[in-house]
Amino acid sequence: MKRMLVTGATGLLGINLALQLMEKYTIIGVGNRRMLTSLPYRLIQKDLLSADAAGELLREAQPDVIVHCAAMANIDACEKDPETAIRINGAFPGEFAAQAAQAGIQFVHISTDAVFDGIDCGADGYKETDATAPNNVYAQTKLAGERAVLEQNPHALTARVNFYGWSTSQSRSLAEIFYYNLSAGRPMKGFTDVFFSTLYVENLVELLDRLIEKNASGLYHVFSAESQSKYAFGVSIAERFGLDAGLITPVSWKEGGLAARRSPNLIMNTDKLRSFLGTALPTQVECLDRFYRSFQAGLPERIHGFAG
Ligand SMILES: NC(=O)c1ccc[n+]([C@@H]2O[C@H](COP(=O)([O-])OP(=O)(O)OC[C@H]3O[C@@H](n4cnc5c(N)ncnc54)[C@H](OP(=O)(O)O)[C@@H]3O)[C@@H](O)[C@H]2O)c1
Repeated sequence: MKRMLVTGATGLLGINLALQLMEKYTIIGVGNRRMLTSLPYRLIQKDLLSADAAGELLREAQPDVIVHCAAMANIDACEKDPETAIRINGAFPGEFAAQAAQAGIQFVHISTDAVFDGIDCGADGYKETDATAPNNVYAQTKLAGERAVLEQNPHALTARVNFYGWSTSQSRSLAEIFYYNLSAGRPMKGFTDVFFSTLYVENLVELLDRLIEKNASGLYHVFSAESQSKYAFGVSIAERFGLDAGLITPVSWKEGGLAARRSPNLIMNTDKLRSFLGTALPTQVECLDRFYRSFQAGLPERIHGFAG
């Protein structure tokens, strides 16, 4: 079985990816501050900002493929500590990608739709070739990371993504925030003028796995075939889970009181991905149905249980 090193394996994407692909790959996960228990895959504790972290991980894990999910992914935390954000999001991916290239290891880097400012995505959504315009520290540092990977490793795959799913904290994704608040009868606000092309994380992992199998390299937009507003997303979750959609107040992001600027219109173009894979991409309803089925199968409790 091939060996897959997954950084960020305590985070939302990493944990779901590891659980989903563990029948296919021997997973070696990397976490830092959150040491989870009873995981069904090996977890190495390593601060990626420590000296020679990349080299030590490669020697210890001997991977065939690396999926680099780790990042400082909290937008407001990046505003407060831009120095750490640039080191982990901007510089480390390039160092890691360079070492992977030297060792001949397949390298997948995870980036974000937030590299665009969301002002004008054009009629067909943002393409891989469109000019970027990051408008907060998180986005600036993630863009620096993409560029560093591209520069250091021409064989690497960089996937710009946006996703939701179940996390150990039960609050890492917007879908969970809607679900847990509405379940408790707490009112929520939903932005009617912020659009995104998000995927349920299992749909995202399936697409990433197919890209890995096909040895894809370069930059890909890995998103749903469809986009919707965050308000519509909240309402669809309420309806799918039998909760009260009336608890969600439609608002503009301008009234949202968020510390860092967000990009309002992140409708993403996925033509490159669709033609490379030769298939249709998941719709919003397909993703939501899968999210709901994972809920029925007990995935939220399973993942939360790893937090001890
Ligand atoms: N969530 C989204 O919708 C979204 C959207 C677009 C792009 N992305 C990208 O997707 C990737 C995964 O995001 P996520 O939502 O899964 O993030 P997350 O839940 O916040 O997890 C972040 C992961 O990074 C690890 N990490 C952070 N600093 C580290 C360090 N110095 N050393 C070692 N590990 C470190 C964390 O480990 P510990 O917690 O154990 O310290 C954790 O496992 C990121 O690259 C993010 O930029 C996410």
